Amino acid sequence: MKLANKVALITGGTSGIGLETAKLFRDEGAKVVVIGTNEQRLREAQQVLGENSMTLRADLRDPAQIDKAVAEVVETHGAIDIVFANAGAGTAAPLEAVTPAQFDEQFALNVSGIFFTIQKSAPHLRDGGSIVVTTSFLNTVGTPGLSVLSATKAAVRSLVRSIGAELAPRGIRVNAVSPGPIATPFASKLGLPEEDLRKSGEALVAAVPLKRFGDAVEVAKAAVFLASDDASYVTGAELVVDGGLSQI
Ligand SMILES: NC(=O)c1ccc[n+]([C@@H]2O[C@H](COP(=O)([O-])OP(=O)(O)OC[C@H]3O[C@@H](n4cnc5c(N)ncnc54)[C@H](OP(=O)(O)O)[C@@H]3O)[C@@H](O)[C@H]2O)c1
Repeated sequence: MKLANKVALITGGTSGIGLETAKLFRDEGAKVVVIGTNEQRLREAQQVLGENSMTLRADLRDPAQIDKAVAEVVETHGAIDIVFANAGAGTAAPLEAVTPAQFDEQFALNVSGIFFTIQKSAPHLRDGGSIVVTTSFLNTVGTPGLSVLSATKAAVRSLVRSIGAELAPRGIRVNAVSPGPIATPFASKLGLPEEDLRKSGEALVAAVPLKRFGDAVEVAKAAVFLASDDASYVTGAELVVDGGLSQI
């Protein structure tokens, strides 16, 4: 097993990419702790992940809640080996319609949430540990209506390099996995009308060289690679899992 006895903290581990990654990490021998906000999804994740796992409720837009969650992980497990800082969400809106609240909301979860998850976890990471964050193909392309979400993902790409440089002396690797369009509840939360969502889904499939949405487990496998010793000489990198959308 690639992650035998490792302690892995996974944010956004109650749904989609995070949940599939939590399952794979568990199957590879890790003790997983997942964070989300929705009580029902937390309960369901606990059932799916089983006894050797733990679920915690924390709103990552609030650094104090991250602090508390990390303290609980440390109290239970003593230290952390892997952080998968993955929770994220977006709101679609054209330039003229973006409100300051929407702007702040997306940066609060997608950037501040990731930054402080790493900052609060770092003192408890074992030397030689691994941090993986979730960016997006959106950080290298321009998409109407997704300017703020895309900018958050570009910011996170930058954090991977800077924090990677800061933690390298401890042998801690910091990398990103960058998904393309993946079949999860994510798109349904963008606030788009059903018809627009269907049309943009069709347009994406047409644009993806592999001509389909990706499955969350395909991103999870990349996260396992980056988290494990298989990627022992990889840091500061972004592994793109997007069917070629941003690459070909
Ligand atoms: N799906 C795609 O097409 C796609 C493409 C590129 C990048 N991504 C990125 O992949 C990551 C995972 O997305 P997904 O597709 O798996 O979406 P998802 O199924 O909607 O999962 C989002 C996760 O984030 C958690 N979350 C949301 N707000 C939170 C908050 N304030 N505090 C703590 N946790 C919170 C959710 O938990 P609760 O519901 O319990 O709050 C859930 O577990 C995101 O960073 C997203 O930007 C997705």
